[in-house]
Amino acid sequence: MAFFREMEFETTWANLSPQEQEATSPAAVREALAVTHDLLLGRAGNAIFVAETEAGERIGLLWFGENRNLITGENEAWVYNVSVVPAHRGRGVGARLMEHADAHARRLGYRNLGLMVATHNGPARRLYARLGFEEANVIMRRRLG
Ligand SMILES: CC(C)(COP(=O)(O)OP(=O)(O)OC[C@H]1O[C@@H](n2cnc3c(N)ncnc32)[C@H](O)[C@@H]1OP(=O)(O)O)[C@@H](O)C(=O)NCCC(=O)NCCS
Repeated sequence: MAFFREMEFETTWANLSPQEQEATSPAAVREALAVTHDLLLGRAGNAIFVAETEAGERIGLLWFGENRNLITGENEAWVYNVSVVPAHRGRGVGARLMEHADAHARRLGYRNLGLMVATHNGPARRLYARLGFEEANVIMRRRLG
């Protein structure tokens, strides 16, 4: 659970824009994540895949779950987080974890696998595009103060 929480924090922090990082703090993000985890981890269908080296060192994590598509009403397979320890990036670990999620979703009979990614997260967006993910919805936000 400590590894899960740390990878969740790393991903969330890395996905904030510089302005968003300035407007919050690591402690506030950890607190918000704890609430999110309370809400989502109790749901059915969650699975957490951990990538390890042969020596058993944990180097990556993928949180798989179910998400209701608000537009179609269909329950989709969802990647809530895929995260690789910085020193082990660029060697295909992220891609392997995603392929694992894909196989798991197919085994369970889902018709779609989805995820949400920050616009400015180049490495993650390149990985998803390479694996055949296509943009479906765009969240837009305007600052009100
Ligand atoms: C996104 C993330 C999970 C990708 O993990 P990764 O293990 O580095 O992914 P891969 O190694 O499969 O792919 C990364 C790059 O390495 C390259 N690569 C993959 N295997 C390789 C190999 N054997 N040799 C050389 N390069 C390789 C890929 O072509 C890719 O290149 P690109 O960045 O130019 O597209 C990782 O960057 C990360 O943890 N980011 C922070 C968390 C995050 O933002 N997650 C997304 C949440 S939505």
